[in-house]
Amino acid sequence: MDAVVLASGRGSNLRAICQAIDDGRCEARIVGVVSDKRSAAALEFAEARGIPTRVVPLKKGEDRDQWNTELAHQVVSLNPELLVLAGFMRILGSPLLERFPGRIINVHPALLPSFPGHNAPKDALEGGVRISGCTVHIVDDGVDTGPIIAQAAVPVLQDDTPETLHARIQIQEHRLLPEIINQIALGKIELNPLKTKAPFADPSKSLSVPEF
Ligand code: GRF
Repeated sequence: MDAVVLASGRGSNLRAICQAIDDGRCEARIVGVVSDKRSAAALEFAEARGIPTRVVPLKKGEDRDQWNTELAHQVVSLNPELLVLAGFMRILGSPLLERFPGRIINVHPALLPSFPGHNAPKDALEGGVRISGCTVHIVDDGVDTGPIIAQAAVPVLQDDTPETLHARIQIQEHRLLPEIINQIALGKIELNPLKTKAPFADPSKSLSVPEF
């Protein structure tokens, strides 16, 4: 299954997906990495690996519809079957959502529907929760609101900062996201845009069992 990864930042999830592919744990092929940030380390990693890259920056004052149209154009040119948002810090508009209905997934560093948005680990700490984690979900037109596919939990520790909590969550992201992509590639998870709830992932993989 051909997938395009959209990333704005460090790209540790992209690396984890590529590592899982190399190890034979993920039956996908990354046919492109698309970013809104020219400086994204994810792009550097992709280039070093020979993965085609595209940059579609949203300039200050630029028309968002125009940006969404160009983003969709660039993604479509890579001909993917699945889109994976891995730290892509922009809301997708209708051009991509309509072109890939139900075939865009995102990884979020909290147990949705709690703590959507850009500051999830900080919000979870401020919310006083004792368990947080990550969520892989289907992308819709809201902010981290689409149907949940799978989650993994981590403990929140007394001395946690947003950074230490996020680092613990990312260990689970790096395990869960490639596993879900693999299950989609193998047809074990069927992405159906007409359903408001996503199918469950294969429970035999201990996907949601907290490791603490
Ligand atoms: C991840 O924590 C992901 O959940 C969130 O953005 C972060 C991206 O990290 N959406 P990286 O760029 O993959 O390291």
